[in-house]
Amino acid sequence: MTAPLISIQQVSKKFFEQEVLNQISLDIQKGEIIAILGKSGCGKSTLLNLVGGFEQPSTGQVLLDNQIVTKASKRCIMLMQNYGLLPWRSAQKNVELALEGEALSKIERQQRAQHYLKLVGLEDRLSALPSELSGGMQQRVAIARALAIHPEVILMDEPFAALDTFTRYYLQDELLAIQKEERTTILLVTHDIDEAIYLADRIFIMSPNPGRIHREIHVRSTKPRDRADSEFQHFREVIFNEFHFTQPQDTIEYNI
Ligand SMILES: Nc1ncnc2c1ncn2[C@@H]1O[C@H](COP(=O)(O)OP(=O)(O)OP(=O)(O)O)[C@@H](O)[C@H]1O
Ligand SMILES: [Mg+2]
Repeated sequence: MTAPLISIQQVSKKFFEQEVLNQISLDIQKGEIIAILGKSGCGKSTLLNLVGGFEQPSTGQVLLDNQIVTKASKRCIMLMQNYGLLPWRSAQKNVELALEGEALSKIERQQRAQHYLKLVGLEDRLSALPSELSGGMQQRVAIARALAIHPEVILMDEPFAALDTFTRYYLQDELLAIQKEERTTILLVTHDIDEAIYLADRIFIMSPNPGRIHREIHVRSTKPRDRADSEFQHFREVIFNEFHFTQPQDTIEYNI
């Protein structure tokens, strides 16, 4: 077994007195797609922020390629929930901007930006400003920008949540194709159980207060997966049952 690319080691995180994450340990190999599922507030985004170096653990550590993560780096890119596009720059310029620190000529930068915008189906909107694009298109620009940097790790916080079903399916397939080609490691937070089963090699279900890893599920079926087949259905049931399992406790809380 090779050394993991990401190693989350007994990580706990407190915000003031509130313990948000408790003793999270998780190793991720290069090229894996990991999905994290869990109820609102269970610490999913906090976990991504720790891996990305945007927050520091209260105890424990996160290693990227055997180095302790102490700050954000271009090796590990966060795909923002709110796109993070500059409104006065065109789609193409937004992607080019992310490439500015790289050893590329102007032409190479333009070509790379166009390549990834084409991959996400925006080749005819290169010069559009974010305000001239739909929410889904803006999200696609943000995805193109993240991919164009060729990061080793992409952290995705509900990347497709705002998209219609068809765009979401299309982008899920694009993501798989690109990921296969570039062996990018992806850590994906999603509320969409089907999305987790469709994309992930392993799914982690978190439980809240404080956030812990409740269950790990290996999805070994080959990709692309068939959302309609019995194996997919099996994983849906397994995951639904996990959430059902925690239901009575919540019901009692709401009834008080
Ligand atoms: N910077 C912060 N300061 C104080 N508390 C925070 C901070 N960030 C998160 N929290 C708290 O930590 C808990 C977990 O938040 P987090 O955003 O990680 O949850 P989440 O699982 O991503 O939820 P959602 O599914 O709603 O996005 C919440 O109770 C939240 O209020
Ligand atoms: Mg969140």
